[in-house]
Amino acid sequence: MIVLGLAFAGAASVGIALVVTAQSAGDSKHGEALVTRKCARCHATMRTGESAHPEAPAFRTLGKRYPIEALEEALGEGIISGHPDMPEFVFESSDVGAIIAYLKSIQEP
Ligand code: HEC
Repeated sequence: MIVLGLAFAGAASVGIALVVTAQSAGDSKHGEALVTRKCARCHATMRTGESAHPEAPAFRTLGKRYPIEALEEALGEGIISGHPDMPEFVFESSDVGAIIAYLKSIQEP
């Protein structure tokens, strides 16, 4: 845990990618639980299904728009979004890793 914390604190994106890769399936489950709780009322958070909010992109398609790692910072520092419908979230670095791991696991090819 200390190692993880340092890696995140030091946070070059290369370091992050390595840390995320090293994470277990358990983290991805945790990420799934988090996005289900916080994001699912607007976004489709699973491999299938439509978003409840018509303008919110399904999470499995995010990887087509930008690398999932690009969300790292946004999640840790509060998602800055010009979209009034979307609340601002700030996650602990361990939660960010879990969410990223989960999002990667559901991306469409
Ligand atoms: C109240 C509804 C709502 C909730 C809750 C919500 N979002 Fe969104 N989100 C939106 C909408 C609407 C958009 C699309 C806005 C647009 O593109 O104009 C969006 C867009 C996004 C995007 C794409 C941004 C971009 O510029 O491409 C990401 C990533 C995202 N949300 C992540 C999340 C995450 C992660 C959570 C949960 C922690 C979350 N959202 C919760 C409504 C929501």
